[in-house]
Amino acid sequence: MADWNPAQYERFKDERSRPFHDLLALVEPRALMHCVDLGCGTGELTRHLHQHLSARTTLGVDSSPAMLQKAAAHAGPGLSFAQADIAAWAPETPQDLVFSNAALHWLNDHEALLARLAGWLAPGGQLAVQVPSNNDHIAHQLTHRVAARPEFADAMRGYARVWPVLAIEQYSVLLHRLGLTRQVVRMQVYLHVMESPDAVIEWVKGTLLTDYEKRLGPALFAAYLRQYRDALHAELGDVRPYPYAFKRVLMWATR
Ligand SMILES: C[S@@+](CC[C@H](N)C(=O)[O-])C[C@H]1O[C@@H](n2cnc3c(N)ncnc32)[C@H](O)[C@@H]1O
Repeated sequence: MADWNPAQYERFKDERSRPFHDLLALVEPRALMHCVDLGCGTGELTRHLHQHLSARTTLGVDSSPAMLQKAAAHAGPGLSFAQADIAAWAPETPQDLVFSNAALHWLNDHEALLARLAGWLAPGGQLAVQVPSNNDHIAHQLTHRVAARPEFADAMRGYARVWPVLAIEQYSVLLHRLGLTRQVVRMQVYLHVMESPDAVIEWVKGTLLTDYEKRLGPALFAAYLRQYRDALHAELGDVRPYPYAFKRVLMWATR
């Protein structure tokens, strides 16, 4: 099974870290916080969170051995990392902050998931989550359309990575129902000005297509990438620079 590729993911480090900082800005710093960062990736931003909040403890959780190998270098006083699947993991003690940037779209059933995460909060605890909301973007749509072509259909077995992200207002209602009445739920468009549409391919290779690569294997994945590139060019032309408008939902809530 192919794992995440930290080098590919970090090719757009600056662009990818902007929503993290916007999400962190929503968090109210409190003294001696206990925090978890779900889907912490390479751990660099987890360290930033830990230091920014002067947290007592921060635990970064991720399922990817390759990402955690990088994260290990950032561990230090109060800051540690653990390998676990968010779907099956729970903290041992209540948390002052349950934080997750750009990870929960990999998990299904956000109603049940957010209910579980809200259940981990200590009194006055805060939940802060950012997920992409760009299923309808043409670059995303084409990943599915190309994967459904006959030459890939056997290996993909009908699989399409559609983020199970809810409509933005559903998150607001859901958080309210979970008793998190003080909340900020907003959509933000991050405009990434790319050199050309080809750069979008490099972007999705670092995230969404990791899942396709696993299923297709090296030879088919190379063929898939060629066809995806052609399909993207046919739709977008050779626009230089290419404005990649990326919608994301940011939510923060507390009782
Ligand atoms: C797009 S990266 C985001 C990393 C980091 N939070 C950041 O902002 O740069 C998504 C991370 O979520 C992790 N992830 C995806 N599904 C997961 C799961 N079910 N359990 C734990 N980690 C998961 C991946 O391994 C990856 O490191």
